[in-house]
Amino acid sequence: MPKFYITTPIYYPSANFHIGHCYTTIIADAIARYKRLTGYDVYFQTGTDEHGEKIEKKAKEANITPKEYVDKIVENAKDLWQSLNISYDYFIRTTDKEHEQAVQKIFKKLYDQGDIYKGEYKGLYCIPCESFWTETQAIDNKCPDCGREVKLVSEEAYFFKLSKYQDKLIEFYDQHPNFILPISRKNEMLNNFIKPGLEDLCVSRTSFKWGIPVDFDPNHVVYVWIDALTNYITSLGYPDTNNELFKKYWPADLHLVGKEIVRFHTIIWPCILMALDLPLPKQVFGHGWLKIAGNKISKSVGNYKDPREYIENYGVDAIRYYVLREVPFGSDGSFKEEAMISRINADLANTLGNLVNRTISMSHKYFDGKVSNPKLIEDIDNELLTNISNLKDIVENKMNELKVNEAIDEIMEVLRKCNKYIDETTPWLLAKDETKKERLQTVLYNLLECIRICTILLSPFIPTTSTNILNQLNTHKIEYNTLEFGNLETNITLNKPIILFNRIETKS
Ligand code: ME8
Ligand code: MG
Repeated sequence: MPKFYITTPIYYPSANFHIGHCYTTIIADAIARYKRLTGYDVYFQTGTDEHGEKIEKKAKEANITPKEYVDKIVENAKDLWQSLNISYDYFIRTTDKEHEQAVQKIFKKLYDQGDIYKGEYKGLYCIPCESFWTETQAIDNKCPDCGREVKLVSEEAYFFKLSKYQDKLIEFYDQHPNFILPISRKNEMLNNFIKPGLEDLCVSRTSFKWGIPVDFDPNHVVYVWIDALTNYITSLGYPDTNNELFKKYWPADLHLVGKEIVRFHTIIWPCILMALDLPLPKQVFGHGWLKIAGNKISKSVGNYKDPREYIENYGVDAIRYYVLREVPFGSDGSFKEEAMISRINADLANTLGNLVNRTISMSHKYFDGKVSNPKLIEDIDNELLTNISNLKDIVENKMNELKVNEAIDEIMEVLRKCNKYIDETTPWLLAKDETKKERLQTVLYNLLECIRICTILLSPFIPTTSTNILNQLNTHKIEYNTLEFGNLETNITLNKPIILFNRIETKS
C-alpha cells in the first residue's frame, strides 16, 4: 500500500485557536481522508508548538506556569478538532518528553559535527513571530511579517551554519520543481531570501527559560523554530532511524502551512535535514490567509469568534464545506458569515440536499423505496452518464494538484446536472403513465447511482453528511472501488429520507 505522510503546522497554544487554524487543519483532514479513500496508508499529524518567549510571557500574565497555560489550550484544541471531525493519526506536543530528548540529541549531533557553533547574537527579534530580522529587513524597527515592534537583543548564542547549505538548497529547488507550491512562493524564497545570501541562524536563547535546554550548556534553550520544525521527525521516532514509523513514513509527502511560515519550512527545515543527512520532504504547500474585513484573522489581533459558534449555528459539515469550497487554495480569501450562508443554502441545501430528498422521496412514493434498474436508457441520459463516469478521474487530477475547491465544484456540477435531469425527465409525469414504469425506474436508478457516486467522492470533505446519505440509500457499495456506474444494488429498499440541510434564513 503506498504511504502518505501529511502534516499541519504545530500551532502556538498562546491563545485558543481560531478559524484560520481550522482552515489549515480542515484542508489537511480533507486531503488525508481523500488519500485514505483512494487506498493510501496515511499518517496525518498535527500538534502544538509550546515553547518560547511569547508563551512564557502569557503564562506570567495569567499567573500560572507555562505548562499549566498550554495544557488548557491544548485540551481546548483537541476538543475543537474533535468537533470538526479531524481524523489526525498523531497529535504531537513539543513538551512531550520524547520530543524534548530527541531535540537535544539533534542539537548535540549538529554541534558535534560542526554545523552548530557558539558565537554572539546581536540583532532584532520579533517576539510574537519568534523570528530574527536584520536591520535592512526590519524597516522602522517593525517586523516585516506582522508589523509590530522588534526588539534589540544581544546575547551569547549558538548558530547553525545555514550559509553552508545555500548552494545545495538552490540545487534541490532546481531538481524538484514542485517542492514549493504555489510556484510564486518559490520565487519569493529564492529572490528575497536565498539569492541575497543566507546568514547563519541563531539557534539558542539565554534571555528566557521556557524552552528545551541545550543539554551540554543549560543556560541556553533551543530556538523555538528548531524545536518546532523537528517535530515532523521526532514524532516518527527520530533519532532512531530504524523505528518502523520513521522507515515507513519519512520523508513527508506534504507539509501544509500558511504562507507566512513557508520561509521556515523551505529554507531552515531543508538545511537542517541536509545537515542530518536525511531526505527532504516532497512538498511544502503555502496557502493564503483567511481575512476578516481585509485583515488576517489572528490570535494576537483577536478579531475572531470561537469556531464552535459556527459549528453550533450551521453544523460541522457546513463549516468544512465553506472553507474548502470558498477560497481558491493558495490565495487569500475573506471569511464572511453572509457568504457562508449563501454557500450553505446554494450548494448544500439546494443542490445536494434537495436532490437527495426529492430522489429518495419519489422512490418511496412510486416504488415503496425499492431500487431496480431495467436500463431503459434514452438519449437524454447520455450527458449525465458521461459526466458521472468521468468524475472520479477529474476529481483525482484536481486533488493531485491540491485544487480542493475545484475538485468539490466538479462534484457539485454533476449534482446540479442531476437536478436539471429531474426537470427534464419529469418523473411525476412518467408516474402517471403505466407504460412508462420501467423508464421511471431507470430514471430514478440513474439519479440514485449518481448520488451514491458523488456522495463517496464528497466523503473526504463532508464526512458526516456522506455517511448520512449512504445510510439513506441503504447501500453497501461505499468503497472507492465501487465508483463505476451500475454498482448500486437493485435488491435494496431505501431508508426514509431525512432532510440534510435546512435553508438558513438571513435577517435582511
Ligand atoms: O506559526 N488564515 O504557529 P501559529 C489561514 N508554531 N491560516 C491561518 C490563519 C489565517 N488567518 N491564521 C493562522 C506557528 N493560520 C508555528 C508553526 S510549524 C513547525 C510551527 C494557520 O499558531 C496557518 O496554517 O502562528 C499558519 O501557518 C498557522 O496557522 C500559524 O499558526
Ligand atoms: Mg503566527
